[in-house]
Amino acid sequence: MLKIVGVSKTYIAGGGKDRENSLLPTLNNISLSISKGEFVSIIGPSGCGKSTLFNLISGLEQPDQGRILLQDQDIIGEKGHVSYMMQKDLLLPWRTILDNCILGLELRQIAKAEARKKAMQMLQEFNLEKFASSYPPHLSGGMRQRVAFLRTMLADKEILLLDEPFGALDALTKSEMHDWLAQICQKYHPTVLFITHDVEEALFLSDRIYVLSSRPADVKIELKVDFPRPRQRRILVDQQFIKMKKELLEALFA
Ligand SMILES: Nc1ncnc2c1ncn2[C@@H]1O[C@H](COP(=O)(O)OP(=O)(O)OP(=O)(O)O)[C@@H](O)[C@H]1O
Ligand SMILES: [Mg+2]
Repeated sequence: MLKIVGVSKTYIAGGGKDRENSLLPTLNNISLSISKGEFVSIIGPSGCGKSTLFNLISGLEQPDQGRILLQDQDIIGEKGHVSYMMQKDLLLPWRTILDNCILGLELRQIAKAEARKKAMQMLQEFNLEKFASSYPPHLSGGMRQRVAFLRTMLADKEILLLDEPFGALDALTKSEMHDWLAQICQKYHPTVLFITHDVEEALFLSDRIYVLSSRPADVKIELKVDFPRPRQRRILVDQQFIKMKKELLEALFA
């Protein structure tokens, strides 16, 4: 469905007098792909260029080289093809949860009443309806991430880009979120590209994992994860799971 082919990106870091010295190669000839309904994780060291990759796919930025194809159509620089949940949840504190959910719909000129109706159905579906008229600062971190995710789903695009959605949560909330997200994926079969630092999280949730090198990032290894679904927490102590975890960590820290 989505193909990234030989994509490279170099930034020019601010402040350097000498342009050559201030070049910041960030992505180095990255190629990866995702099929419809697949859950694919991208793991890589901090600062290696993971969010940059999402900014390129979503059309916010453009690569220096390479192609980005959605169903064989070049989408470089084009916005609106993917739903993007950015690294910060970006809920507007002065809007209720319901009105945060409809932001994307409003931007697409959908009438407010209709947007609210659609969002309310989704809030019910996700068991969040009692928070509809609350404000973001009154919600726990996990709840806010659920709302941000719901808003991303409501954008109703073919691919969801999730940039470390659970990165700031404590371990217990995080594992609750994993079960929650896995259930949603079982039900809706979205196509998800998921950035994380967390190897266990990637193994628990994914069909496939790419490990990126440090900056400038390239693909170090690609791993298929075929544990049956629905997955239970006990797979975390499965021998095969532990073996794959070791393989991922070795690739990450090599
Ligand atoms: N617009 C920009 N201009 C210049 N440099 C940038 C820009 N955006 C990102 N960078 C730099 O590119 C590198 C990669 O950044 P990016 O945010 O993609 O990393 P990341 O892998 O998502 O990191 P993290 O795991 O910490 O979220 C960093 O060194 C960052 O400072
Ligand atoms: Mg990032």
